[in-house]
Amino acid sequence: MLPDDKSTQVDLISSTKLALRRLASSVTVITSYYEGQRLAMAATAVDALSMEPPSLLVCINQTASMHMALNLGTAFCINILHRSQAEIAQLCGGGATGEERFSVGTWQDTVENVPCLEGAQANIVCTVDAAFAYGTHGIFVGKVKKVMVSESIDPLIYMNGRYLGVSE
Ligand SMILES: Cc1cc2nc3c(=O)[nH]c(=O)nc-3n(C[C@H](O)[C@H](O)[C@H](O)COP(=O)(O)O)c2cc1C
Repeated sequence: MLPDDKSTQVDLISSTKLALRRLASSVTVITSYYEGQRLAMAATAVDALSMEPPSLLVCINQTASMHMALNLGTAFCINILHRSQAEIAQLCGGGATGEERFSVGTWQDTVENVPCLEGAQANIVCTVDAAFAYGTHGIFVGKVKKVMVSESIDPLIYMNGRYLGVSE
């Protein structure tokens, strides 16, 4: 790459980051198991994919522990956080490691043996149905196997580096 191309690339990275600070996203915690250990990580790069079959996309950095688990095709759960669960997002977003990420909240294993967070907006248990690598990330297609939803709809939002709720 020529020096000019390099500086253009650096500009594009910083302007893309600035743009994404303006993208409000629902916060999820993805959970799974890897070599007998529970894993949890905060993720906003999660989106609906198709209803035929019911499926979602999750994008995971290849450096994240979760990437190793999903690369093996392990079942995982997308826990869509409630507004009151910002502390769990912080712990699972790098504020804690390993089992300490499960120190707040009540976590239960489903029949699929995936940790699910009680009081989350929804718990969506998936199996990995396809995976692609792009740049630094892995893109995983989760085929939905089981869904639990809560009554109230009051999601935790991440925007401009902050956690907030939606006011109507
Ligand atoms: C609000 C928030 C959203 C995040 N979204 C993602 C995401 O979508 N994909 C990703 O790979 N990392 C995301 N991260 C970063 C990971 O949660 C973080 O790097 C985590 O520590 C990775 O787990 P590990 O330390 O076990 O590897 C996010 C962090 C925060 C705080």
